[in-house]
Amino acid sequence: MPNSERIAVIGAGMMGHGIAQIFAIHGHRVSLLDVSDEILAKAIENIRINLTLMAQSGLGSTADIEPAIKRIRVTRDLEEAVRDAQFVIEAVLEKLDLKQELFQKLDALCPSETILATNTSVISIAEIGARATRRDRIVGTHFWNPPYLVPLVEVVKGKETSSKVVGLTTDLLRSVRKHPVEVKKDVPGFVGNRLQHALWREAISIVEQGIADPVTVDEVVKKGFGIRLPVLGPLENADMVGLDLTLQIHDYILKHIERSTEPSPVLKQKVEKGELGFQTGRGFYEWTQDSMEGCKKRFLKHLIRWDGEHLED
Ligand SMILES: NC(=O)c1ccc[n+]([C@@H]2O[C@H](COP(=O)([O-])OP(=O)(O)OC[C@H]3O[C@@H](n4cnc5c(N)ncnc54)[C@H](O)[C@@H]3O)[C@@H](O)[C@H]2O)c1
Repeated sequence: MPNSERIAVIGAGMMGHGIAQIFAIHGHRVSLLDVSDEILAKAIENIRINLTLMAQSGLGSTADIEPAIKRIRVTRDLEEAVRDAQFVIEAVLEKLDLKQELFQKLDALCPSETILATNTSVISIAEIGARATRRDRIVGTHFWNPPYLVPLVEVVKGKETSSKVVGLTTDLLRSVRKHPVEVKKDVPGFVGNRLQHALWREAISIVEQGIADPVTVDEVVKKGFGIRLPVLGPLENADMVGLDLTLQIHDYILKHIERSTEPSPVLKQKVEKGELGFQTGRGFYEWTQDSMEGCKKRFLKHLIRWDGEHLED
């Protein structure tokens, strides 16, 4: 797809505004839709802040910021947003009913060749497309937060998604400097969130059992095996240490590792008490405005440095 083609992003929240930013900065015309003018204005302001921060860090030029923002047309009218779109990405709330209704509408409103993508984190693509008729053009594009700095996008092939749609989606994502990977089966959680939440389940269980406190659990990851992860995936690592050793370790350890199919009682209690993390200032940690800002700043600085080092990749 040439960069003059139109992209529509439905939902301008944490993920949607960042996804719109990716396509606009790479020269595409973008329609960005949400339910209120306030949300849309905030989305544009956030895009300006993101691009400015990146330019100040050597990722892009300040001269490109306003032209990119001019390429984004904000709207609350779905028909207007998708009428002439070649590629639509849905990034509304993670609610199956809402997504099903939206894809039913998109199916009816969009030109027949338009690719309809969902940024769902964990829901099956087939379920999301259940009320649509042309399900061959519905595909998963699972971006990671913040989408303009994390390269990976999981491209998920639903049972009825055509290979052509997967190929065009992958090409488009590559053309805007993303790193698409194909997930061959439409399973809940795809690949990334299965791996990530296996780790989070164990982390919460370790705290629940009093084996270590939250700071220690996070330090074990950040100062230990987490350092290796950008250059050594778990399967490369298994090969490096030897599959015989991996087998011996699994033989001994697997029966001791958390395998509950229910969320942890500690997690449920915290949510019931309103201890939601950043949103309420208390979760596994106590948060102040300063400590939250510091955490976000460190996170963004790390990702910007990483992106800068991999500009040529
Ligand atoms: N936050 C993450 O880290 C992350 C990462 C990957 C994928 N996702 C997925 O991306 C999607 C969006 O997540 P988010 O974190 O951006 O949520 P968010 O709550 O920040 O944004 C969702 C937006 O959708 C809008 N919306 C709700 N109903 C709508 C409708 N009918 N039409 C148009 N807009 C509507 C809301 O007003 C809101 O602005 C979810 O499916 C989520 O699971 C999130």
